[in-house]
Amino acid sequence: MPVTVIIGSQWGDEGKGKAIDYFARRADFVARYNGGNNAGHTVVNELGTFKIHLVPSGIFYPHTQCLMGNGMVIDPAVLLQELDELRHAGLHFEKRLHLSQRAHLILPYHKTLDGLYEEAKGAGATGTTRRGIGPAFADKISYNGLRWADFIGGTFDERLRVQVNLKNKIIAALGGDTLDYETTRAEYWNYYAQLKPYITELAPIVQKGLAQNKNFLLEQAMGSLLDPDWGTYPFVTGSTTLASAATAGLGIPPRRISRVLGVAKAYTTRVGGGPLPTELADDHPAKPQLTETAATTGRTRRAGWLDLEIVKFSAQINGSAALFVTKLDTLSGIDELQVGVGYKLDGKPVHYADLDAARLSRVEVVYRSFKGWREDIRDVRKFADLPKNAQRYIQAFEKLVAIPIRFIGNGPERHAVIKR
Ligand code: GDP
Ligand code: IMO
Ligand code: MG
Repeated sequence: MPVTVIIGSQWGDEGKGKAIDYFARRADFVARYNGGNNAGHTVVNELGTFKIHLVPSGIFYPHTQCLMGNGMVIDPAVLLQELDELRHAGLHFEKRLHLSQRAHLILPYHKTLDGLYEEAKGAGATGTTRRGIGPAFADKISYNGLRWADFIGGTFDERLRVQVNLKNKIIAALGGDTLDYETTRAEYWNYYAQLKPYITELAPIVQKGLAQNKNFLLEQAMGSLLDPDWGTYPFVTGSTTLASAATAGLGIPPRRISRVLGVAKAYTTRVGGGPLPTELADDHPAKPQLTETAATTGRTRRAGWLDLEIVKFSAQINGSAALFVTKLDTLSGIDELQVGVGYKLDGKPVHYADLDAARLSRVEVVYRSFKGWREDIRDVRKFADLPKNAQRYIQAFEKLVAIPIRFIGNGPERHAVIKR
């Protein structure tokens, strides 16, 4: 294992939380390297059902060291609430949760601006989670961000004052509610006081772990197709979501990444705006079965057939060596399954990488159809015990993307995995 990155191969919500919880048994370190509480990773294990937004999903094993990398943005109120919930579930993590001093903070004005930008874009809105993610990363890149290190180094108050002044002008011009500097300052010092025991520099911890050849499991948030460069811009998220981002987001040298495992749902979902070429029509009989509720915002996830063009592209760009296919059980009972095997634009074959979001939303999907199965497969633990048509679906999937499917999820629980 030594350094394995687990990535989502579609538009997020592939089941990364479940995969991380499954593999973390053998990990010494589990680390998040991008995004913030726009993520919602569901873990179902013997302690209960958890929707995790910030803490690595490997927190449930008492032996794991859990790292929250410099590539993340942190909303401290959300983190404190999450820690409370985990404590209530009986977890102890005081000595094994470490939060990078370099991680940027989400401040109230980021959330306000996120909402104001979305409203200004009207029908062209990205459909963000409105958690302030884009504006917080924009501040990081334009040298206007605030980090935990600002509390330690004594620069927090003055930098916050400048930012509140600046942001209030923009917010007022856009008709939003401005912020009081003193109230925000006091609120964030209070968060810092509570989170101080976890805040540290991760570099020595990571370097020591690497030197000792410890097992690292790196947990991507969002999906590959939400990457700002390689996703469906501007319907993307604020931080790089590729496996390669794990290096900068945690301070791990590229050559130390030993393996990338892609998680892919057996069909496709997407929350928010942007193209979803295989999306099912509202009156399609299979639609209710494939429709989910988002773990972070409670919105309805849009649903579509499996789209191999994007799974293949994300495997290429991330270097995925194998796939973990989730939610095969959800397809039980659908008589005929469609799988997108290619795109055409204006009658000519095209690939995902040739297109921007506008052109992608116009493609005609080339489908292959597969016979479904009626059986409930949630108790199956061996590939050979799956209905023949389920086996054929997986075998065709694997052949068409040309990557081995090593794990199949057939239920939300930790143990609901068929290993091949
Ligand atoms: P993540 O953001 O990639 O961690 O995925 P989410 O947790 O947002 O969404 C995945 C959903 O699918 C959650 O409700 C999981 O509990 C559920 N899930 C994951 N794997 C499976 C599976 O193999 N079968 C079923 N039925 N549900 C699964
Ligand atoms: P996990 O880690 C699915 C989507 C939002 C929106 C776009 C930008 O649970 O898979 P943002 O708030 O990031 O500025 O929103 O990205 N999005 C996700 N969709 N799963 C996620 O995370 C997502 N994180 C962001 O719906 O379309
Ligand atoms: Mg999710």
